Amino acid sequence: MHLPAHVAAYVRRLDRYPAYVYDLRGLSAHAAAIRAALGPVELFYAAKANPDPEILRTLEPHVDGLEVSSGGELAHVRETLPNVRLAYGGPGKSDDEIALAMRLAVERIHVESPNEPARLAELASGRPVDVLLRANLAIALPGAALTMSGPFGMDEDTLDACAHEIARTPGIRLRGVHAHLASGLDAPTMLDLAGQVTDWALPWLAARGVRRPEVNVGGGMAVDYRSPEARFDWTAYGRGLPRDGTVRLRIEPGRAVTAYHGWYVTDVLDVKTTHGETYAILRGGTHHLRTPVTKGHDQPFAVPASSGPPAGRATLVGQLCTPKDVFARHVTVPALRPGDVVAFGMAGAYAWNISHHDFLMHPKPTFHHLR
Ligand SMILES: Cc1ncc(COP(=O)(O)O)c(C=O)c1O
Repeated sequence: MHLPAHVAAYVRRLDRYPAYVYDLRGLSAHAAAIRAALGPVELFYAAKANPDPEILRTLEPHVDGLEVSSGGELAHVRETLPNVRLAYGGPGKSDDEIALAMRLAVERIHVESPNEPARLAELASGRPVDVLLRANLAIALPGAALTMSGPFGMDEDTLDACAHEIARTPGIRLRGVHAHLASGLDAPTMLDLAGQVTDWALPWLAARGVRRPEVNVGGGMAVDYRSPEARFDWTAYGRGLPRDGTVRLRIEPGRAVTAYHGWYVTDVLDVKTTHGETYAILRGGTHHLRTPVTKGHDQPFAVPASSGPPAGRATLVGQLCTPKDVFARHVTVPALRPGDVVAFGMAGAYAWNISHHDFLMHPKPTFHHLR
C-alpha cells in the first residue's frame, strides 16, 4: 500500500521497533473533510475506535462531541477534553458508571433497557437527565460486516414500555432515539438505514410528545481493508441525509474516522520456509495489532526501503507462540531479509487498544505522533 511521504520520512528515522506512528496531520485533514460533507448533521466520534489522547485532541476541532461506552472511557475523555460534549451508552451500566456520567456532565445517555430510567433517576438525585432510547429495530442489512443483534438496545415493544416508564419518572427527559445497528456499510446502504430509522423514529417520538426530536443513527461506515485507498463516500452520505430541520440528526462513527492514519511499524527478525510456505517473522505481533485476527483480513502494508519488484509470496507473522499470530497470509512481498522494515497501515482504529498487549510479555511499541 502507499506510504505517504512524510510518514515514510519519519519511519526511516525510527531506531526502535515496533512503533505505532499516528499521522495527525492526515487525520486532521480527513476529519475536516468529513465535517464539511455532513453540513448540519452532528458528528460524534466513537472513542472506542481509538482513545489515544493526541488523536482525541486532533479530532476535537472537527467533531461536535464524543460517544463513550464505559466509565473508563468517560473519565479518560473528560480528562483529555474537559469541555467536549459527551454521549454515554452501553448495554450494562453499573451504578458507579451512571453516577460518574452525572458528575462529568454527560449531555445524552443512551438508554438500553426499560430498567435503566428508574436507576438513572435515583442516581441523578434530582438533576435532569436527557436520554435517547437505543432502538434495536428489525431492519435487514445485507452486506454488513457486523450486525448488533443481541443485548444492544430494545425492540419495539420494549421501547414502548420504556417510554411509558420515562413518562412516569420525574427528571428523565426523552429527547430521541439512538440506533447503531451494524458496521461495514457503504454510503448508499447507510443512507437507506438512516432513512428507515428516521421514518420509524419521527412518528414514534411525535406520538410521545417529543419536540425537536433527535435521532442518532450510529456509526459503522465501511472501511475496506482490501482497498486501503478507498474511502467511505462522505460527500454522498452528507448530501443524502435529511437536512430539513424536522430532526436533529447525529452520527457516531469510529473506524472510518481514524483507521487510515495509524501505522504499526516493525522489522523482520527472520525469514524461513517450512512445509513449502515462506514466513517472515516480525518483531512484535498481533498482541499489538489484533485487527487482522479479529476481522479475518490481511493487514495492508508497505515495505518502505523496497524499490524492487515483488519477489514472491510470504506469510507475515509475529513472535507469538500461536498459529493465529498472522498479520497477512500468503501475500506478495519484495525480497525480505532480517532488518527490513514493514509498515502496516490502517492501524489507527481498533488496533492497539483492542489488542492483548501482555501476552508473552514482549516489549511494548513506542508511540509517535506526526503533526
Ligand atoms: C454504540 C456504538 N456506536 C458507534 C460505534 C462505532 O462504530 P464504527 O467504529 O464501526 O463506526 C460502535 C462500535 O461498535 C458502537 O457500538
